[in-house]
Amino acid sequence: MDGALRFVSPAGWTEKKPCPEDVRSYLHKAVDFISDYYKSVESLPVLPDVKPGYLQRELQAAPPASSASFDVAMKELRAAVVPGMTHWASPNFFAFFPSTNSAAAIAGDLIASAMNTVGFTWQANPAATEMEVLALDWLALLQRLPASFMNRTAAGRGTGGGVILGTTSEAMLGVSGLPRLAVYAADQTHSTFFKACRLAGFDPANIRSIPTGAETDYALDPAKLLEIMRADVDAVLVPTYICATVGTTSSNAVDPVGAIADVAAVFNAWVHVDAAYAGSACICPEFRHHLAGGERVDSISMSPHKWLMTCLDCTCLWVRDTHRLTGSLETNPEYLKNDASESGTVTDLKDMQVGVGRRFRGLKLWMVMRTYGAAKLQEHIRSDVAMAKMFEDNVRSDDRFEVVVPRNFALVCFRIKPRHGMTEEVADEANRELMERLNRTGKAYLAHTVVGGKFVLRFAVGSSLQEERHVRSAWELIKKTTAEIMEEIVVE
Ligand SMILES: Cc1ncc(COP(=O)(O)O)c(C=O)c1O
Repeated sequence: MDGALRFVSPAGWTEKKPCPEDVRSYLHKAVDFISDYYKSVESLPVLPDVKPGYLQRELQAAPPASSASFDVAMKELRAAVVPGMTHWASPNFFAFFPSTNSAAAIAGDLIASAMNTVGFTWQANPAATEMEVLALDWLALLQRLPASFMNRTAAGRGTGGGVILGTTSEAMLGVSGLPRLAVYAADQTHSTFFKACRLAGFDPANIRSIPTGAETDYALDPAKLLEIMRADVDAVLVPTYICATVGTTSSNAVDPVGAIADVAAVFNAWVHVDAAYAGSACICPEFRHHLAGGERVDSISMSPHKWLMTCLDCTCLWVRDTHRLTGSLETNPEYLKNDASESGTVTDLKDMQVGVGRRFRGLKLWMVMRTYGAAKLQEHIRSDVAMAKMFEDNVRSDDRFEVVVPRNFALVCFRIKPRHGMTEEVADEANRELMERLNRTGKAYLAHTVVGGKFVLRFAVGSSLQEERHVRSAWELIKKTTAEIMEEIVVE
């Protein structure tokens, strides 16, 4: 190799023709596109008006036989792809949880993609491995996670550590299944928990979904958990794994981590905390109490790709004893053997995940923290929470609506409440109609959930470009649409 970079060039890829200029030119075009996109995304319909199969009709069915200018792909991107996109980056996006992003994260992801390394072992990419370890330790420090989860503490290298995975679903895997093992979570736990348990080999009959109710604001009741685990022991099952959620997807309920850890200790069961969304808030001291008791759990995961200005995919998993993870996931084929791995002084991140190959995800996360710093990141969380509070206050001050569960972070669960003899069924229908009409406008996108048997709208504040004015406009649109629906209900 003569030191020159080799990239595919449509102008004619000769064997050693270096094309860094193509990289420069394509990426300049891509960066211009991204910058323009961020400027204009607010004016695009947040939910596209396309029918299944639309893209096949827009683009040619077979791959081209010959090369084309990069401009052709960019043109088709603009003409065919963008109109079919749901714009998660739109400030009018209030559905699910936000997928927040930032210039630093995009840059980090771009550079990582360009370098395209596959750091399965420390030796396969020392900087990527150490960057990931460092970024995880930094984030643990920002959240004040117990030192036992950190790779390096003031006292030196500990037994804890982490890994950056693609999704929370991967973070929940790691305990191998046997027929008599039982696992537990609240019925509000993300469906991915139940999927992960099936993948890990647990008998579906021993996967417990524990009912929750309004009396605990839909959080897991430790007394109920204890009762069910005892009954399982009586049935000669082995309670093995509990998933507690801090900020459930449906309504942002917070399971009591410390009390659940106490119950788990009776049975020596593993406790995992899924803080996929709300973990980001714990970089602010006022939210850290939600993780109280974390020093007694075995693993914690959270996704900066949800609420910490870091683009997909970036799920951080910390474990208190990394050996319990590497013990089941370690592989040692001849072709990966090297002195560094054998010295035992380095982390080979392939041993903390299901796959072998891995992206350099640590870079974008580190770039976000390095660029914005704790104060700016805290400000980002607090401003979203303040906007959500403003929306919640609006809802509470209008007696056509109710806030269905207390707001813990930046998600408001609300609905048109049944009034003037309106039945629950009619109220549910009215709320569904409200959501569908809002989403059809293209000016707002909200998702729903069912809490306590009621159809509830979820208003999740936090999309990266969101400002108070977007929340205010959405509220005006909600009020106007509700008035129209109410009138129709009365007329009928
Ligand atoms: C609390 C919680 N856990 C897990 C998930 C699933 O995350 P992933 O798509 O990263 O597997 C979500 C997604 O919204 C979530 O909110």
